[in-house]
Amino acid sequence: MRTTNVNFNTNYIGKPYFNNVKFTGILHIDKKNGNINDSWFFRDEKILASSADHIKTFFPEGADVLIYGCSVGEENISFKSFVPESKYRVIGYDTSTDALRIGKRGVYSLFSNWHDSYLMPNMNYPLAECELANHSKEECIKMQELRRKFHEIMYEVPASEEYRDINNKYGFIVMKYQNKNFVEKFYRVRDKFTKQIDLRFGNFINVGQIKKERPVGGIFFRNAIYHLCGNNVNEVLNFNAPVQICHNIDKLMEYAVSCVHKTLDNDGIFVIGNHIKEHLYLADDLADKSKTISFCDTPYFVESNIKHQEYRNLKFYKESPLLTALLKDGNFEPIKYSVLSAFGSKIEVPVMFKKVRI
Ligand SMILES: C[S@@+](CC[C@H](N)C(=O)[O-])C[C@H]1O[C@@H](n2cnc3c(N)ncnc32)[C@H](O)[C@@H]1O
Repeated sequence: MRTTNVNFNTNYIGKPYFNNVKFTGILHIDKKNGNINDSWFFRDEKILASSADHIKTFFPEGADVLIYGCSVGEENISFKSFVPESKYRVIGYDTSTDALRIGKRGVYSLFSNWHDSYLMPNMNYPLAECELANHSKEECIKMQELRRKFHEIMYEVPASEEYRDINNKYGFIVMKYQNKNFVEKFYRVRDKFTKQIDLRFGNFINVGQIKKERPVGGIFFRNAIYHLCGNNVNEVLNFNAPVQICHNIDKLMEYAVSCVHKTLDNDGIFVIGNHIKEHLYLADDLADKSKTISFCDTPYFVESNIKHQEYRNLKFYKESPLLTALLKDGNFEPIKYSVLSAFGSKIEVPVMFKKVRI
């Protein structure tokens, strides 16, 4: 599922018109809880690939990989393409019944001007703005390889009215209006993979209680942990949203990490996302002052940004409470880093953690 920012104006005769559509996604919101279910194929694909390598090395006999916050399942399919062997089962969990309903049908769409448009058969479909930077030869080869993997798992099916709910209608109308050559194609998961990519209702906070059926080599909760604690740093800095604070965030994170630790097998990995809301956490007045930092002292602060100046004294945790909990007692060690892009800066953040043998 996808998210979009659309600059929407009204012209002098009062009719709406669209101006400078910025393709950053197509908004799809769970009607029941308001969560944004945005995702795309091969999101942060380097980390998916290294997670797969790790699991194949440490679990050669096979394992289950639990992908929490999987939305409709683009992440499950992308990960599966790196571990196509049937001994690796990918189980996606989400609390959004909307997303699960759509995902269980097993049909997905690819379309122009999006992060994963390069997966369509013709490599020349335009990509989302953030993907448009000149691609090196190596990147083009990598995209072709991902496309090959995608088509091993998926096959094209004809468009049908029943797939209209896959993407947000409003966002799509805007994109089609702006782009005469807009293309949308539909793909279904091949039969032999449907049993290996399971979708279930499940809350990450209950990960410690699942009945293990086989060794668990990986637990993912990417770009979603902020839903648990309500950390809305992005909304505050970009849209002046009121600051939401989770008062017992350290306890919450310690509990979540202990559940992950309990369910993962030794040498298994816990993987998080590279979204700013996963790494920079708003602090409350009760937080230990020695553990907090003003926004202007974080690497995310941009002096020339007016919003940033306004929020320069806003308090954040120096170290993410999730990272603190993961590193506590030496139970996990960070083994891979990814790039977090925010406000024009690129910052390396740890996203893959190995459970240390006990
Ligand atoms: C922004 S999407 C991220 C999708 C995907 N993981 C990715 O990185 O592209 C967040 C997803 O997490 C789900 N979610 C939120 N809280 C959850 C929880 N406590 N347990 C399981 N899923 C949750 C939402 O319903 C949503 O589908």
